[in-house]
Amino acid sequence: MGAPLPSAWESLPAEQQPEWDAHPAHAAALGWLRGATPLVTHTEVATLGWGLAKVARGQARLVQAGDCAESFYESGAGHTAAKASALEALADRVAARTGQSVLRIGRIAGQYAKPRSAPVETVDGVTLPVFRGHMVNLETASELARRPDPRRMVWAYHASTEILRDLRARRVAAADGGRLGPWSSHEALVLDYEAGLVRHDPAADRSLLGSTHFPWIGERTRQLDHAHVALLASVRNPVGCKIGPSTTPDTLLRLCAALDPDRVPGRLTLIFRMGRDAVAEALPPLVRTVVSTGHPVVWLSDPMHGNTRRAAGGLKTRYLADLIAESREFRRVVERAGRHVGGLHLEVAAERVTECVGRPEEENALTERYLSLCDPRLTVEQASELIDAVF
Ligand code: PEP
Ligand code: CO
Repeated sequence: MGAPLPSAWESLPAEQQPEWDAHPAHAAALGWLRGATPLVTHTEVATLGWGLAKVARGQARLVQAGDCAESFYESGAGHTAAKASALEALADRVAARTGQSVLRIGRIAGQYAKPRSAPVETVDGVTLPVFRGHMVNLETASELARRPDPRRMVWAYHASTEILRDLRARRVAAADGGRLGPWSSHEALVLDYEAGLVRHDPAADRSLLGSTHFPWIGERTRQLDHAHVALLASVRNPVGCKIGPSTTPDTLLRLCAALDPDRVPGRLTLIFRMGRDAVAEALPPLVRTVVSTGHPVVWLSDPMHGNTRRAAGGLKTRYLADLIAESREFRRVVERAGRHVGGLHLEVAAERVTECVGRPEEENALTERYLSLCDPRLTVEQASELIDAVF
């Protein structure tokens, strides 16, 4: 496998990129990534692709879950074991409810970069660049901590390596031979990092994105003529794309054509994150559009990202009742269109946290154990309640 070649997407615009090109370590960090061993293999990516094809054909389900933003400080074996067990528990729950086998994909081993709605925030009267994930800067509220540092890409690679080693061991030990996972996924956001880990194989028609098994494009970076879509269109990994309520049928059609031109079952997972209030109206025309074009996509419901609210004390939260309402409606619409609900995309903490609440009256408990680096996560218990309500 050779070094990455300049590709068409490199000249395209891209949102949400760290401003670090002038950093003295930028070129060296990029060079290091280009010479690094890919974190995942062609065989692994192909195996996950077969699993996703089964989900697309209605023969299996999928749970994709984990942190909103992973922490570099949680790459040790104990944390990985706890996160993989949480994912397994949720997948087992879906399996018990649906009677089907369930593919497991973590938001893990690379979920270190976050798109943000504003570039700066004001903390105690001081305006600072926002936290963009451990691949870019630190969450601590100081000028120094928030300065983007491209060497963090190298640290992200190392943290991911450590976690992937443990996930691989779990797949090897699995009764099903590891076909169902646990696999890694993250939002392919920082192009310096993702592009640095693309590997061309003369024997294969598409490149391998070596940073993760399953990359997805976020709601804020899925512009058709921008770099993120072009990059993921060029790799052989199965890919996901977030779809929010403002997506038009025409845009969705073009996204499907760009990301799944050959109509391969499981190649493209559409991750709908509409919001409780928008789903009933916005989802049906989008589902009809995809169905009419025949793209054999995986239909996934992310009830988290359209339902974030600001609690009275200022913390971000999500009400379980909203999440349940959105995913139930998602299931109703997709099944009415004669399609198979692939499963759920969730933000879940392995440890006991107080980040999402059942309903508004419970908001005063939020400060107790609010540990997320970014968005509020469900506990495993809350996520299980959601699964029981949806399936
Ligand atoms: C996320 O999944 O953490 C995220 C930012 O989602 P979205 O792109 O759907 O807003
Ligand atoms: Co999130």
